[in-house]
Order: sequence, then structure tokens, then C-alpha cells
Amino acid sequence: MSPSFQTVRQSYASLAALYIDMFGATSQVDADDLALIGRHLTGTVVDAGCGPGHLTAYLRSLGVSASGIDLVPEFIAHARATHPDVPFHIGSMDDVEGPVDGILSWYSLIHRPPHELDGVLARFRRVLKPGGTLVVGFFDGDEVVPFPHKVTTAYFWPVDEFAARLVKAGFTEVERQRRPTDGPRRAHAAIAAR
Ligand SMILES: C[S@@+](CC[C@H](N)C(=O)[O-])C[C@H]1O[C@@H](n2cnc3c(N)ncnc32)[C@H](O)[C@@H]1O
Repeated sequence: MSPSFQTVRQSYASLAALYIDMFGATSQVDADDLALIGRHLTGTVVDAGCGPGHLTAYLRSLGVSASGIDLVPEFIAHARATHPDVPFHIGSMDDVEGPVDGILSWYSLIHRPPHELDGVLARFRRVLKPGGTLVVGFFDGDEVVPFPHKVTTAYFWPVDEFAARLVKAGFTEVERQRRPTDGPRRAHAAIAAR
């Protein structure tokens, strides 16, 4: 496993219980986000970087054949115990195999060094069936810069820049969503692309 994956895995593992408490249920997810995710993902879907697995289970509740994968064994143990009917795997999003109808990458690209993004998106494109959909959520910012996220270093992405990277990887944007900073909550962006 690459050193940066080791860092992400160890950092989330040490805070897994707290993360699950704060973010591990759909009741803690903005209703607009759930709606966007539900609107665009159908068929066989991989939740790449599923964390506690609540969004994977949410997709299953909508009749989507969703499975989750994450680097962090503590998250996968929680996801399996909480959602026993949903398949979850320990592993990297870089090893996801297709073809699938959809990929959800909800805040799971935020720790990837920017120079890796094009490669990850191109791989997602190859794993998706023709016409398959990717939904990504990330921190919106004025420029691509790192910041000290509570778990480990993360990156802001201007939504236009992220959208351009999606086009470069062969995607066509179908919807974008933005929410400005709100108190302690950072600005949010999400894009659905085919
Ligand atoms: C901010 S959390 C988001 C988790 C979940 N998607 C959610 O919305 O709560 C980022 C997640 O991405 C996972 N992750 C980061 N890099 C990954 C990789 N290369 N492969 C699989 N999971 C990864 C982390 O382990 C962590 O669970």
C-alpha cells in the first residue's frame, strides 16, 4: 500500500468512532445531498471510499445494487455490523472492478494529492459502463490548495476546475450543486457526470 494510503488509513482508523458518531448516519447528511445521490445513481453502484457505509445503505434502500469499499477496516467492520445486507469490502478505490452503472465518491477524493486526480477519474471512467454515472462530493474553494482537515491533509477544489478535470477524463457534466460556507461547515460542491 502506498505511503499516502497508509496515512489516510491510519488517520481515519484512529478517529473512526468519532467520525461514525458525527457523520455516519443519513440523518446527518444534508437532504439536498441525499436527493442528488439518489437522483443520479441506479443499477450496480460502487460507493468508493464509503466510510461508515450509510450512503451505500441509503442507495440500497432505494433499490440500487450498491456495494461499498474503503481503506479503513474499522469503517468496514461498522458498516457490515450496521447494514448486514449490504456488501462491503476493505480495499482501495483504485482496485474497483467494473463494469458498473455508477460510482459514488462522496468526499473520498479530498485527500488525494491533486496530481493523482486525473488518473483516478480516468480509471473511474474505464470502470463505468458507457453512459454510467459518477457522483463526486468535495470541498469547494477558490484554488487547489491543501488545508489541515481534522483527519489528515485535504484539498479544496474550485468547482469549475474539478468539472474541467471530469471533462478531460471523458465525462459530461449533468448536474452540479454548491453550498456556501455555513458557520464551521466548509463550502461544499458536488457534480454528477456521465
Ligand atoms: C471524508 S471520508 C468520507 C466517507 C463517506 N464517503 C462519507 O460520506 O461519510 C473519506 C473516506 O475516503 C476513504 N478513502 C480515502 N482514500 C481512499 C482510497 N484510495 N480507497 C478507498 N477509500 C479511500 C477514507 O478511508 C474515508 O473513509
